[in-house]
Amino acid sequence: MKIRVINGPNLNLLDQRESSHYGGFSYRQLENMIREEALKLNVNVEVFQSNNENELIELLHSAENVCDGILLNPAGYGHSSVALRDAIASLKTPVLEVHLSNLHQREKFRQRTVTSPACTGQISGLREVSYFAGLYALKKIIEKKSS
Ligand code: DQA
Repeated sequence: MKIRVINGPNLNLLDQRESSHYGGFSYRQLENMIREEALKLNVNVEVFQSNNENELIELLHSAENVCDGILLNPAGYGHSSVALRDAIASLKTPVLEVHLSNLHQREKFRQRTVTSPACTGQISGLREVSYFAGLYALKKIIEKKSS
């Protein structure tokens, strides 16, 4: 089972951003934690980060028929990118949206994402555990689909 994890803009600067929202660890540390968790779940992961909307769209498109599921933290683009939402909606591959911070405890403009209605589900507010829960949930969804 192969899951592609796609991280959006500014997540590469995680350790320079508000630690009360993002946990205070670096992007490298987050990536390592995701890989460790995937190993425990016996899932193959490929982890990407990009600050570029076009690249994020390409990463979504190219996962179709190559990966069994996608874990997406669209970061700021989640609140604004209709193009990202359309890319998600075009896929048969299940996409789960994750956020480190609890969007519902934050500014009004963060409480809504344009991408989540196109996703299978959304997990928000558990810091790195949002990704762990996302991997676990995707694994269950994929297994159910292929049974
Ligand atoms: C985020 C939340 C977004 O509002 C923000 O723009 C981010 C990170 C999160 O993981 O909590 O960059 O997606």
